This record gives sequence, C-alpha cells and structure tokens, in this order.
Amino acid sequence: SRTHRIAVLAGDGIGPEVMTDALRVLDAVESKFGFSTERNVQLVGGAALDATNNETPLPAETIAACENSDAILFGSVGGPKWENLPPDIQPERGALLPLRKHFGLFANLRPGVCLPSLTHASPVKNELIPNGFDVLCVRELTGGVYFGSPKGREERDGETVAFDTMIYKRSEIDRILRVAFTAAMGRGKKLVSVDKANVLASSVLWREVANEVAKDYPEVELSHLYVDNAAMQLCRRPDSFDVLVTENLFGDILSDEMAMISGSLGMLPSASLGGKKEGSELYFGMYEPSGGSAPDIAGQGIANPIAQILSVAMLLRFSLGENDAADAIEKAVSAAIDKGFRTGDIATGAATEKKVGTSEMTDAILAGI
Ligand code: NAD
Ligand code: IPM
Ligand code: MN
Repeated sequence: SRTHRIAVLAGDGIGPEVMTDALRVLDAVESKFGFSTERNVQLVGGAALDATNNETPLPAETIAACENSDAILFGSVGGPKWENLPPDIQPERGALLPLRKHFGLFANLRPGVCLPSLTHASPVKNELIPNGFDVLCVRELTGGVYFGSPKGREERDGETVAFDTMIYKRSEIDRILRVAFTAAMGRGKKLVSVDKANVLASSVLWREVANEVAKDYPEVELSHLYVDNAAMQLCRRPDSFDVLVTENLFGDILSDEMAMISGSLGMLPSASLGGKKEGSELYFGMYEPSGGSAPDIAGQGIANPIAQILSVAMLLRFSLGENDAADAIEKAVSAAIDKGFRTGDIATGAATEKKVGTSEMTDAILAGI
C-alpha cells in the first residue's frame, strides 16, 4: 500500500494534547483509505529546550527528520516558561521562524471558515452572516518585517533604540501574489490585496506588483484595501471576502481576527508551502493550527482539537495527494459540529449543544469517518 513519511513536532502547551488526537484521526483515515504514514516524532520549541538544557529549541535531529519527510505536522510552540530566555533561542524565534525560512515556506494559507451551524459562536451580528462565510487568507511568510535586516537594539544619544526593517523584493511579492491569484481562480475569483501603501514604501511596491501580476489573471477581480480598513471590513461583512493576500505581519494579525470571527482560534488550520516537489503537483509543507500553545488552558483536556485535525486534512491534500482522506476529515468535522458537539471555546450554552473536552470532540469526529 502507499506509504508516506511525515515529521511530527507537537511542541508545547496544548500542542501535544491536540496532536495526540489529530494522529488518532490520521490512523482512522489510513485504515479507511488504505495508505500508511511513517511518523518521525521529534522535539521542538520549549520541549526541545527542556531536553537539551536550554541549548536549542530546534535540534539538528529535528531538522533532519523534517528534511527526510514529505511534510511536517506541527503543533504549537512557546509559553511563559521560556519567554525570558535570550530571544534567539526562544521557541518562536529559534524554532518556528527558522523552520519556515529553512524550508522556504513562503505561502501561508489560512482558511477562515464559519460553518452555517456555528454562526452563533461568531461575535459578528448573525443577521449579517446567515450562511456563515468562507475566506482564504494568503499570508506571505518568509519576508517582511519578521526577517528584514537590520534588526536589533543599540544605544544612541544616551538611550536605547530598537529597530526592525520591513523589506520586500519584487520577486517575493510576485510569487505570493501568484499563489493568491491561483487560489482565487479555484474559488470565487475575487482577490483583495491588503497593504498600507499610504504610508509604507514596501506597500507601494506591493500594490504595484499586485497590479502587474493581475494582468496574467484577467478573470480575477482584484481590489486593494489599506490594512486598517481591511480589519474593519472583515468584522463588518466577512462574507463579502473571497481571497485576501497580504504581507507577513498584516497576515499574522488579520488571520487571528478572521479566526475569532469564525468562532474560535481553535478551529482554524494552516498550510505553509514552498515550491512544488520536483516532477509533482504536490508541495513540501508544514501544517499547523493558526493559533498558539494556549498556556491558559493547557493540561486541562479542554482545547479544541479541530484546528490540528483540519491541519492534517490540509497535509493530506497538499503534500501527500490523499484527497479522499482529506475530504473525509473535513466532512466528519462539519458533521460533529452539526450534531452539536462543542468544546468550551465554541460553546454558547444553548440547550442543543453537547459540551465536550478534547478527546470527546475527537471521538465525535471519528464517528463520522
Ligand atoms: P494563543 O493562540 O496560544 O491563544 C490565544 C487565545 O486563544 C487563548 O485564550 C487560548 O486559550 C485560545 N485558543 C488558542 N487555541 C485554542 C484551542 N485549540 N482551543 C481553545 N482555545 C484556544 O496565543 P497567545 O496566548 O498569545 O500565545 C501563547 C504562546 O503561543 C506564546 O508563546 C506565543 O508566542 C505562542 N504562539 C505560537 C504559535 C505557533 O506555534 N504557531 C502561534 C501563536 C502563538
Ligand atoms: C503564527 C504565530 C507566529 C507568527 C509566532 C509564534 C512567531 O503567531 O503562526 O501566527 O507570528 O507567525
Ligand atoms: Mn499569529
């Protein structure tokens, strides 16, 4: 039967809890659809720091495991325990960002879907979203102010200054815009490019390149929004959006907003992709929830596992080509929600809801596979 190799990096906080459940779902689709995965389980983030006496959040074995795999299934990293370490070895800056950079994962796809049966969990006025909504955020992931240099702090004129650099090359903007236009072609053919071209030089270039690339996709209706206005429009009329494309930091912020208006950060998966694998339509990629390690609820068995489980579905589709298994997972998640199963983050107290913890939610999903 078909065998694939994946690296499994659960990380910290709720990461290991939701990863355990995501792997139960993977087991189920493997037996149902007749394929298997060899799983190389490795430490990352705070878990790796703890195991290496604070030497590194990204051990060489972990990188090697990823290099020898078809895809990476990632949990979340970080937490209060490690936030006073030197910035360069903290879980986020020392493991997560280097992994994205090392594998050239420049395209971060974050689907913001509010299922019609979950509109009551959205803070958006329900009469505005009678059918829920379905927005895809395409976030540039390896450029911009996250990685630009110079970056640092120093003494100037008797006080401390600190600085970051927001920088984009034309080629970096061009390639992410093409990902977004291609995604729009497969959906509603509407693309909103988000920038701050009234202030930032990098945004002026961004808008220029977006307009140029648009000529290659005449069927897609392109519009531009300033990021402040985009944040406002997203919570006002989320269902007016189809695909949204933006630079790294704006995408980080807007995707959390999108997650919340969908019901909960615990619902939204993400795929971080580079180029296609040689001679294939599949991508090497890293798949993780859009949210973090949620230290406030870690260890209690109450985290919503859906973001991690839907990340498995994205991995199956984009990196392994197991599309039937991916579809089955997405259908089973919707079915569990339709049946009323709710973890705390999406529960509203309605009589029709069945309030459950992490593993019961997963049981409900498994029942649909
Ligand atoms: P967070 O995303 O971890 O949590 C924000 C809020 O959302 C919390 O109230 C949390 O309980 C809730 N939430 C998130 N996921 C949930 C789930 N699956 N089920 C139910 N509720 C959920 O953001 P934060 O608190 O700002 O960050 C905590 C740590 O996570 C920090 O160290 C941060 O750097 C890190 N972080 C890591 C990643 C990643 O690894 N990809 C992403 C974001 C934040
Ligand atoms: C995310 C996270 C990361 C980011 C952090 C943890 C570095 O917030 O994946 O959205 O800012 O990209
Ligand atoms: Mn974020």
